[in-house]
Amino acid sequence: RKGKTTEEVVKQYLQKVRIAPEENCTICMEALGGASGYKGGDFIGRLAQCGHQYHLQCLVAMYNNGNKDGSLQCPTCKTIYGVKTGNQPPGKMEYHVIPHSLPGHHDCKTIRIIYNVLPGTQGPEHPNPGKPFTARGFPRHCYLPDSEKGRKVLRLLLTAWDRRLVFSVGTSSTTGELDTVIWNEVHHKTEFGSNLTGHGYPDPSHLDNVLDELKAQGITEEEEQ
Ligand code: APR
Ligand code: ZN
Repeated sequence: RKGKTTEEVVKQYLQKVRIAPEENCTICMEALGGASGYKGGDFIGRLAQCGHQYHLQCLVAMYNNGNKDGSLQCPTCKTIYGVKTGNQPPGKMEYHVIPHSLPGHHDCKTIRIIYNVLPGTQGPEHPNPGKPFTARGFPRHCYLPDSEKGRKVLRLLLTAWDRRLVFSVGTSSTTGELDTVIWNEVHHKTEFGSNLTGHGYPDPSHLDNVLDELKAQGITEEEEQ
């Protein structure tokens, strides 16, 4: 995306609205018929797929607040334009099949995913650039049934990993530790034969939940992007 100005990046997902509707922009809360509460400018755009309308300069301000990866997410309905990426630090994702069944999935073997993320220094895409971050509890082991749906989830998790969306850097809600590697918005099962943390099996809705969470990150099997 180098070479494109922020305005150009945002505009590629917009259609120009010529006649302002009698509504407020839900980003700045000012009338769409008037100027953006952020930077002035009265260009109004309609997001091409979902149809939600905003001041161009409000979307530009929102984009500049994020990680500027060329993608844009509608703040109203969360539709993603372009390919959303995250700020997961460098590491490794591996997986293999183990010949045991998970509680609730007695008819198949199990996929074990092993994530390894190392501590390091935060980059400009992280909450405290230049400060160190820790990485606790790695390698983290996660489990999926080796069923058709489980393998689909695995394929999508590999995409999530490539797009740096599995982990993030921030405050752990479990330990309260600041500046540490934390799970992002996609749930993983980290217990194999027990369910002491609530992140174990059986959980009949787990795979569907993960598919929904992946979809919210713009990751689906129908790779239109
Ligand atoms: N296993 C799987 N997911 C978890 C776990 C866990 N043990 N604990 C929390 N989560 C989920 C939470 O439900 C939430 O959605 O991860 C998300 C972020 O929670 P944080 O506590 O901020 O994440 P993190 O600090 O990375 O995880 C805490 O998980 O895998 C373990 O070793 C890790 O003990 C640590 C714990
Ligand atoms: Zn606005």
